[in-house]
Amino acid sequence: MTVHTVRLEPIGIELEVEEGETVLDAAFRQGIAVPHGCKEGQCSSCKCKLVDGDVEMLKYSTFALPDHERDDNHILLCRSQAYSDLTVELLNFDEELLSRSIAVKEFAGKICGSKSLTHDIRVLEIELEQPIKFWAGQYVDITIPSKGVTRSYSMANPPSEGRQLQFIIKKYPDGEFSSLLDGALEPGTEVKVKGPYGGCFRRDGRPGPMVLIGGGSGMSPLWSILQDHIQSGEQRPIRFFYGARTDCDLFYLDEFKDITSKLSDFEFIPALSHNNGGDWGGETGFVHDVVQRRLRAEGLSGEIDAYSCGPPPMIDAVMPVLFGIGVEPERFYYDKFTQPAAKE
Ligand SMILES: Cc1cc2nc3c(=O)[nH]c(=O)nc-3n(C[C@H](O)[C@H](O)[C@H](O)COP(=O)(O)OP(=O)(O)OC[C@H]3O[C@@H](n4cnc5c(N)ncnc54)[C@H](O)[C@@H]3O)c2cc1C
Ligand code: FES
Repeated sequence: MTVHTVRLEPIGIELEVEEGETVLDAAFRQGIAVPHGCKEGQCSSCKCKLVDGDVEMLKYSTFALPDHERDDNHILLCRSQAYSDLTVELLNFDEELLSRSIAVKEFAGKICGSKSLTHDIRVLEIELEQPIKFWAGQYVDITIPSKGVTRSYSMANPPSEGRQLQFIIKKYPDGEFSSLLDGALEPGTEVKVKGPYGGCFRRDGRPGPMVLIGGGSGMSPLWSILQDHIQSGEQRPIRFFYGARTDCDLFYLDEFKDITSKLSDFEFIPALSHNNGGDWGGETGFVHDVVQRRLRAEGLSGEIDAYSCGPPPMIDAVMPVLFGIGVEPERFYYDKFTQPAAKE
């Protein structure tokens, strides 16, 4: 089998890529965490510059890598197969991501059950044979062999529960995976879980404020981050913004009330984009506008760490708002819940 060497600059780390393997998969296999998101050429998180060598790119979205960037030797690591030794310059190199790398492995497990949180949000519970090590906020690929489907989902439980995993999942009526959640997945159904993936994990030991911004099932990794923070005993101001259409889409309200009474400086701020009248006394509008209004008015002091997960348009809207209020780009961690790439 042909094997090529890939040198990652500016860190000077080398890895081996086998024939038919993407550079990103090779890095995961060797326990080297480089920036990534969807792993499918949809999100651009793994974009970098090819300094030397030849690659072939698998199918990708031109939103993630426009033609002018491809012409300028930019590549997506998740879509690149090596045809010679390569030198690649990482554009968003994150030292903490690298130092906390966990080698990706496959775990066997079974479905324990699922329950409803709202009309279209479910919690799926999976028990693994062996515990998985992960950081709060990371995700895995879940395969259901009997149904032939694999999708990415973020753990909602904290890393202290490495065998009993929970996932908050939004149901799409014609979704190949999510439509199975109401009845088609019997307890005991075998699953394969591969991971962990993702760089949107809780950074600990930081005293500045933590801002969490989610929409829909984007609650899943943020809930894990919040539980992990509580278990750590660390103290820092936390503002948790959550975008929903109407109050029927809200859940965990009692749990948030309880957390508010226990943490010294915590606020949960739900925002309804389609408030249907009623006696809602909270924030209305799109969540990024609410983040802007509230954080500008409050003027939190200290270096902010911001985490955001959910639909890609929400994250694209939140990003300039956070930068506008002074969040450093390297302290903004996010996972875009992109749809799987269209099958070829
Ligand atoms: C890094 C990452 C982490 C993720 N974490 C989570 C998570 O914790 N919880 C979670 O619920 N999802 C998460 N997702 C999304 C998840 O992987 C699936 O894409 C999603 O569940 C849809 O899969 P499906 O098989 O049900 O639908 P598919 O069969 O893939 O899609 C069928 C149809 O459903 C509709 N649909 C599917 N996805 C969307 C969408 N995003 N927006 C609008 N319509 C859609 C469309 O009509 C689509 O044609 C994550 C994705 C990524 C990349
Ligand atoms: S485009 Fe490569 S990880 Fe999303």
